[in-house]
Amino acid sequence: MSGRTLIILCLIFTSLIHSGYSSSFILPCRPIPPTEPPPTLITQVRPSDIKVVMGLGDSITAGFGISYHKIGDFVGESRGVSWSMGGDLHEPTIPNFLSQVGATIKGQSHGTMLPFLHFLPKSIRSFSRDFTICQLNAAVSQAELEDVQEQIQYLSFHIPRVSPSIDLQNDWKIINYFIGANDLCDACDQNRTVVTPAYWEKNYYETLVSMKRKFPRSIVNVFLLPDVAEMGYVGIGETCRKLRDIIGFCSCSSSDSGRQLMSQRRLQYNQIMIDAAAKANQILGCETFAVVVQPVLSESKIEREYMSDLDCFHLNENGSKFVAIGAWNNMISKVGEKANSTNRNVIPLCPTENTYLVS
Ligand SMILES: *[C@@H]1O[C@H](CO)[C@@H](O)[C@H](O)[C@H]1NC(C)=O
Ligand SMILES: *[C@@H]1O[C@H](CO)[C@@H](O)[C@H](O)[C@H]1NC(C)=O
Ligand SMILES: *[C@@H]1O[C@H](CO)[C@@H](O)[C@H](O)[C@H]1NC(C)=O
Repeated sequence: MSGRTLIILCLIFTSLIHSGYSSSFILPCRPIPPTEPPPTLITQVRPSDIKVVMGLGDSITAGFGISYHKIGDFVGESRGVSWSMGGDLHEPTIPNFLSQVGATIKGQSHGTMLPFLHFLPKSIRSFSRDFTICQLNAAVSQAELEDVQEQIQYLSFHIPRVSPSIDLQNDWKIINYFIGANDLCDACDQNRTVVTPAYWEKNYYETLVSMKRKFPRSIVNVFLLPDVAEMGYVGIGETCRKLRDIIGFCSCSSSDSGRQLMSQRRLQYNQIMIDAAAKANQILGCETFAVVVQPVLSESKIEREYMSDLDCFHLNENGSKFVAIGAWNNMISKVGEKANSTNRNVIPLCPTENTYLVS
């Protein structure tokens, strides 16, 4: 076990009290009834027609560190609060927004969990998640692109277990897919060939192919990466930063050369995602499967006030809320009109009768 792993485990086991802080938020929108009969073409799917949400990603999607403010607070994954997959009451999350505009959905995650999955071999991870908490949030803290196929396996295996009423063939599904922050943080490690642009070129598209094979009637939301190198400037001198440096989270962002490499890689990964999405829509795309690039984070600034007091690396409640609203706005905006950033001033958009998720 590495020193880094030990520190994380110690932190977790010495702090099992919840802070109780929550950031209640309800979308100021009028619900729109689901289309009757349900649409058969993907371009006719409204937000209220979505029946299932699924999530692929890392600690951001798992909700790590969101609810931490002081020593003694819970250190772990607040899965119910995760901006892309959380389903805890009144939290600002995409699944809750879908419900608030009229959808009846399954798959959103609830409650909290310890971030141990990445320490397990991939072969047993799929059977080690507590699916009553994770539901269809397959994210694993510290995951990189190389871990995504296992997450797809998990979803495929657990859909019927999460709810026998999910109709895999006919229900419209959303897959929120946000990966790459850890890959960027590992850019300085020359030995990790699985984070190179060459590896991404070969494997990112393949993850979309697997999704198309396993999950018919799905809209995949591909979230582009922010400039994670900016982490190097966040929290300098604070306790959260000292902890982050001791654990070794994203040490690549601490040097000029590391930041330069990360920024360059970030642009390469984002281009690979954009190209893979275009290729998927051209080759795999059909009337019932689409990949939509959501650019909300691509020009978003990483600022201290949005980051967790634990490690000033993960999102806090405020950061999570602004990302959730920005991501939601992206989802219901047409291609070309999607905002490239979000911040504390973001104003939530509401769907109309003419709002479709794929345009
Ligand atoms: C990378 O691999 C080389 C050769 O196997 C090894 O000597 C070196 O310590 C490794 N570097 C890191 C950062 O793990
Ligand atoms: C979140 O934002 C609110 C309003 O802007 C502010 O009062 C609060 O202190 C912020 N919370 C954190 C944890 O930064
Ligand atoms: C976001 O950036 C893209 C690509 O640079 C640009 O085409 C688009 O107009 C921008 N969107 C907005 C809303 O500014």
